[in-house]
Amino acid sequence: MARVLVAETLADAGLRLLSAAGHDIDIRTGLSPDELRDAIPGAQALVVRSATQVDVDLLAAGDSLVVVGRAGVGLDNVDVAAATERGVLVCNAPFSNVVSAAEMTVALMLTLARHIPQAHQALSDGRWERSRWGGMEIYRKTVGILGLGRVGRLVAQRIAPFDVALIAYDPYVSAESARAAGVDMVPFEELLARSDIITLHMPRTAETADLLGAENLAKCRPHALIVNTARGGILDEAAAAQALEEGRLGGVAVDVYATEPATDSPLFGRPDVVATPHLGASTTEAQDRAGTQIAEQVNLALAGDPVPYAVNA
Ligand code: MLT
Repeated sequence: MARVLVAETLADAGLRLLSAAGHDIDIRTGLSPDELRDAIPGAQALVVRSATQVDVDLLAAGDSLVVVGRAGVGLDNVDVAAATERGVLVCNAPFSNVVSAAEMTVALMLTLARHIPQAHQALSDGRWERSRWGGMEIYRKTVGILGLGRVGRLVAQRIAPFDVALIAYDPYVSAESARAAGVDMVPFEELLARSDIITLHMPRTAETADLLGAENLAKCRPHALIVNTARGGILDEAAAAQALEEGRLGGVAVDVYATEPATDSPLFGRPDVVATPHLGASTTEAQDRAGTQIAEQVNLALAGDPVPYAVNA
């Protein structure tokens, strides 16, 4: 029997699987980094979502740690190299929430194009602002997808029936593979120059950090809408706010932030911004899948069996 430290909310389905394997589930959500470091000694497994920083210090405190399970896709909060160095397996649930993330992206595109939250708020406050919130059709627009991985492709599939032109930039995907998904691969700068809507679907890495900063935002069309449901820090929030202020961008929808939880951002409170608190994966279905998939991986790792979604095996 192993002790599994669950540091963030995990769906019941996942907790049940861990219990059924005979493990001792230690649910300790909402701990500070210091408290988590105090709680980790003796635990063989640690399960997190995106809010917990699994850094060198936490891994060093995990004297019995065998596996870190990330109940979701992104691994930017886990120091995978440090885990590897300590012989700790890291696994994630790469397919768990991609549909939810894609649906959230399309929802934000439409919401942003039609100013729905702003109009709703005005009416809720007793103001009939019919002439203020005229929007933009998606029909026959060019949608530029930055990152044509799992989520980027699902977004392409879902937005295609709006009769849009789909273009993408992704240095790791071939033109043939993109074409099979109904998308034309183009150079990065061409995507910026042509897109009416730009949507981000890449991880935050040294390569993508601040990819949409002041210099590249200046290459976008002045009416362009940008949607970021991928990771904060790829779109520079201050530069985007400045571009909106100067009329060099049409609107921005953000679900993810350079620092989370985010209660302050230069984008907040603007009439041309729709902001949500990292809700891309927050559906019952995605959380059930993430909980189940990560519990299965953790159980395999603790049993010493091969772990299909290990990222550092
Ligand atoms: C992910 O990377 O899986 C999503 O951003 C959702 C999450 O952080 O749990």
